[in-house]
Formats: sequence, C-alpha cells, structure tokens
Amino acid sequence: MELSVVIMAAGKGTRMRSSRPKVLHTLGDRPLLGHVLASAEALGPARCIVVTGHGAEAVEAAFEGPQREFVRQAPQLGTGHAVQQAVPRLPEGGVTLILNGDVPLIGTATLKALVAACGGDRLALLTVKLDDPHGYGRIVRSPEPGDADTQGAVQAIVEEKDATPLQRQIDEVYTGLMAAPTAALKRWLARLTNDNAQGEYYLTDVVAHAVAEGAAVATAAAVDETEVLGVNSPAQLAELERRLQRRQADALMEAGVRLADPSRFDLRGTMSCGMDVEIDVGCVFEGRVTLADGVKIGAHCVIRDAEIAAGAVIHPFTHIEGARVGAGALVGPYARLRPGAALGEEVHIGNFVEVKNSTLARGAKANHLAYLGDATVGERVNYGAGSITANYDGANKHRTEIGADVHVGSNCVLIAPIKIGDGATIGGGSTIARDAPAGRLTVARARQAVIERWTRPAKAKADPKP
Ligand code: UD1
Ligand code: MG
Repeated sequence: MELSVVIMAAGKGTRMRSSRPKVLHTLGDRPLLGHVLASAEALGPARCIVVTGHGAEAVEAAFEGPQREFVRQAPQLGTGHAVQQAVPRLPEGGVTLILNGDVPLIGTATLKALVAACGGDRLALLTVKLDDPHGYGRIVRSPEPGDADTQGAVQAIVEEKDATPLQRQIDEVYTGLMAAPTAALKRWLARLTNDNAQGEYYLTDVVAHAVAEGAAVATAAAVDETEVLGVNSPAQLAELERRLQRRQADALMEAGVRLADPSRFDLRGTMSCGMDVEIDVGCVFEGRVTLADGVKIGAHCVIRDAEIAAGAVIHPFTHIEGARVGAGALVGPYARLRPGAALGEEVHIGNFVEVKNSTLARGAKANHLAYLGDATVGERVNYGAGSITANYDGANKHRTEIGADVHVGSNCVLIAPIKIGDGATIGGGSTIARDAPAGRLTVARARQAVIERWTRPAKAKADPKP
C-alpha cells in the first residue's frame, strides 16, 4: 500500500509573536517540523509533501531532501484548503496520512496505528480524551454503539466555534491527524465549502462527506497525551520542551544513568552512556555526546560533541565542545575544552584552563589558569599556572611542541612555533622565543638585582598655614 504524507505547515503562528516561522522554532535543538518529518519518514512513505505558506522560503530551505516536496498555500484559507494544495502531487491510490507541522512529539508507533486503522478503505482519525477539550474539534458519535465498538460510529467533527453547548461537553477531540484512502480523500476535499463560523475550508468536514457516502470512519487513540500536543505559544513550546526532556531523562535512567534530578537535565541532541554514569544537576548536553563507563559529570557543565572515556571526572561549571577526554582524566572545575582538544589517559586540567586544538599525552597536567592552543604536549608534562602558548602572530597560527616530562614553570609565554625538548625545565616567568633543549633548565627573564643606596621617596611636608 503506497503511503503519502502531507504535513500542514503554512500557518502563521501569530501567538508565537516571532519573526521566525512557527515550524522553525526548536524543541531539543531541532525544529518542530524536523521532529514531525523524522517520525513520518520512519514509516518509509513514498513521498512527504509539506504545505508551506508563512516563511515558505526559509522553511523549504531548511528541509530540502529526497522524497520531500513542497507546495505553497497562499492565501491560507483553512486546513482543508491546505491539503487541497497537495492534491495534484498525490497519486490515484494508496493511503494519505495528514500531519500537523506544529505537533512535534507524535511518535512513529502512533502513526503506524493510525495508518493501520485506515487499512486502505476507511477514514481514520487520531483522537484523544482531554480533561479540558476547549478549543479543539469535538468527535460527534451516533448514540447507538457501533458493530465492533462499544462507542457509537463517528458522524462528524465539530469545531469549537461551530459547536452547540451540548457538543462542547464532548471530551473526545480530534488531534489534527488523520489517514484516508487517497482516492476518496480527493473526492471529499473537492466537496468542502467555507460555510462555517470561521469562513474557512475545514479539513475536518471530510468526515461528514465520508459519512454521507456511507464510508466507514475509524478512530485510533493516541498512546500518550504528550504526542498530540501542539505548539502555539512560547509557553506551550517551553512546556513541550520540558516533556521532551523528561522523556529523554527517563530513557537514560531506564538504561542505568544516574541523574541527580531528571527535571534539571537537558539533552539537545543524542547521547550514549556506559554503565555507572552519574550526572549532577543543571548540565546541558548538545550535539553528539558519548560518556563511557563510570564517567561523572559535575553540576552545571555544558558539553557539546564530545567523547569522554571511562572513569573520567568532569568537575562543575566546565565547558566542553568538540573534544575528547581520556580514561581517568580530571577536568575542571571551570575548565574550557575547545574544538580539537584531545586529552590522554589520566590528564588533569584544572580551573580556568583553556585547551584548543591540542593533544595532551597520558598523565600531563595543566592545573591552574593556563592556555594551550595548537600544542602537542608529551606524557607527564607539568604545565605551570598562568603559562600560555602564544600561538597567533596576528596573521597565522603556529604550533608548540612540548616533549615528555617537561616542567614549564608558572607564568611562562611560549612563542610559537617552538619546540621544548624531552625532560626540559622552563624557569618561571620566562618568555621563550627559541627552542629549548632536552634535559636542561632554560630561563629567559631579567636577572634579579638589588639596588644599593636606594631610599624610598618620602612625602613632601606641607607648608605651615600663614
Ligand atoms: C485543527 C482542527 C481541530 C483540531 C485541532 C487540533 C480543523 C478545521 N480543525 O484546528 O479539529 O482539534 O486542529 O490541534 O482542521 N494550516 C495551514 N493552512 C491553513 C490553516 C492551517 O497550513 O490555511 C496549518 C497550521 O499551520 C497548523 C495546522 O494547519 O499547523 C492546524 O491549523 P490550526 O489553525 O492550528 O487549526 P486549529 O484551529 O487548531
Ligand atoms: Mg491549532
């Protein structure tokens, strides 16, 4: 059975009060429409047709891809009118699944159930019962129970604004998602009128047309209310973000990760964790993050695109991006690892240390207030407080090579390109502009002098008042 997907994404999203098209607002760092496309494409449809309107160019540019097509809807005359724009792109047969670009957390399993409820010859609606159905289209059923169902057969969907007071008490609502036999859908769409309270072409009126033809109307229930919540305002976006984060946190805890507080955890990307991983409160993980067995992440760390090997400990308030941390390493508190930082096993990076595009071999330490940029650091090096690599000459970047077992004293400036031989010692306060030989002490600072016969100036006595 050939499956086509139509996603409605032309609406303005007035209540977002934003210049950005609504479906480009992000949830877990991924645009709303991206979530919907991912769930839909997991069904392997023959095509995905996205109906764009407000901000069409930006939306189309963000989601170009194979098997994706865009049709524009201007002006926007309602949900039925939106789907009508996709009709020329739909085949004559198969099933069409209609989704909402602003209902992002819909799951693939629920979509499968909806397509199955359609089965190729019925109109299937995804419905949910809500404590507060206000604002939604209500599912109107006949008073007599149906054949295979204890509930009455679906007769129509009535929009809030068109509903009678009695209909408004119905708590079963239409989620905005349906699946229909494509040929019949085209027929029903052609019959829509805008004779209603909002003067719009309602997609929901296809139900009454199906019923008039004697076609069966089935319903599928959403497993979880979160799946069918839409985003219309910043408050709803934030609410869904929390629900998404809670889902992700639950999945990690299910896999054994110990989160100090699942309500203070944010993952904006993907994360894979080994056994006995512990994560304290307030951390944000972005992009692709891997934490191996026994990794501990302290409070308030921001970690993006990183691989952290077994047993490493990241102390609080550390910022890591595009870096690798070796097994048993200690990083932070207040450390910053920038892209290209690669720490070997048992490396120690302490407070206010910044490492960029540099490799530190096993056991190297930079414990306080230091900068390593474009450097190769050998095993067991001790890099003193306040020392920096001067890697940039104002035009180009140059490398610093530090051999194994080197001791760099405090407050040194290593002017790259430069090499420090194995086992060398650099005296504190040195500005090193030429290579330093292996195994020797190199000092490059003014000699200390004591000035004889020097006296400290005394304050001049003020003139006595006349
Ligand atoms: C719709 C349903 C309502 C259902 C609710 C669920 C209709 C008539 N009503 O109402 O029964 O309970 O969703 O959330 O369908 N859109 C377009 N072009 C348009 C109008 C809308 O692309 O001309 C898009 C919007 O961007 C949005 C979606 O269609 O993604 C739904 O439109 P919206 O205006 O939110 O419909 P509701 O009034 O919420
Ligand atoms: Mg809506």
